[in-house]
Amino acid sequence: MEKKIKRIGVLTSGGDAPGMNAAVRAVVRTAHANGIECIGIRRGWQGLINSDFVTLTRESVGHILNRGGTILYTARSEDFMTEKGRLRAVATCKMLGLDAIVAIGGDGTFRGALELSRLGIPVVGVPATIDNDVGCTNYTIGFDTACNTAIDCIDRLRDTMQSHERCSVVEVMGRNAGFLALYVGIAVGATAVLVPEKELDFQKDVVERIQESRLSGNTHFMIVVAEGAGSAMDIGRRIQEAIGISPRVTVLGHIQRGGSPNARDRETATRMGYYAVNALAEGRYNCIIGTKEGGIVELPIEEALQQKKHLQMDRYKIMEAMQFGSAVR
Ligand code: F6P
Repeated sequence: MEKKIKRIGVLTSGGDAPGMNAAVRAVVRTAHANGIECIGIRRGWQGLINSDFVTLTRESVGHILNRGGTILYTARSEDFMTEKGRLRAVATCKMLGLDAIVAIGGDGTFRGALELSRLGIPVVGVPATIDNDVGCTNYTIGFDTACNTAIDCIDRLRDTMQSHERCSVVEVMGRNAGFLALYVGIAVGATAVLVPEKELDFQKDVVERIQESRLSGNTHFMIVVAEGAGSAMDIGRRIQEAIGISPRVTVLGHIQRGGSPNARDRETATRMGYYAVNALAEGRYNCIIGTKEGGIVELPIEEALQQKKHLQMDRYKIMEAMQFGSAVR
């Protein structure tokens, strides 16, 4: 960027994630510290199309660090998928005098960011999604809090499953990725975890694991299913048909997206927001902020979108090895 930036917009887009507010706060406060004004764009890319905005001062982002959700609201915009919508968004940027946009969200948000950057609006992306499925970063804001929320729910379920000597099938979010399911499965000591990254062998991955667990003395079983691996209802039905027990099915759903962000999400969001604005202040843009080996990295958006992040299958093996009586496969 040749000219010094004076005013930026910040928005949250896609599914919300705990820690988005912490990122917004960090963007606003770092901007002000650099003499840059900050405009909050409400309801993601749709808000940019509709000129839906609010001025953000240092004070206006007080007391949001600990709040779940996003004070800027969020949306998935169909209009932004069209050339017409994007041109209206550019017009809003010009009308508001925005020199750049900080977009907080997941892959979908960054695909939007790429399109906007191609129309001449500088953009920096900050990854936030409970799915942790953004290729260019080890970590996405919200993942740890969502894991802890799911763990808390499943621990409660375990109490009642243990008392009644039942089998529980729990569906967790994650879209097409199994990060949430596998991390949670390890942390709750699941009998089995089903993830989209591994083709399901129902007999071996579910039936035999319940049977082995039962043979080693367990009388309750916890099956964690990633939403991308299938429906918990179906899995429950198949378990009943195969073994004759009657599982209770729980779909955790959107409860996993709510709640106060934990330490990791507040801290990571604050660092990412800070680095995003510093990049702009130093003349770098059209990039995504990420974490790598504990530090912060920046990658051009186009390259970032091509990066793939694979589920660590060694963790799957570890999960399998933790069951009583289980032979390491
Ligand atoms: O991407 C976050 C996420 O919560 C996914 O895990 C889930 O598949 C999806 O969003 C749900 O989206 P919606 O809020 O539109 O129901």
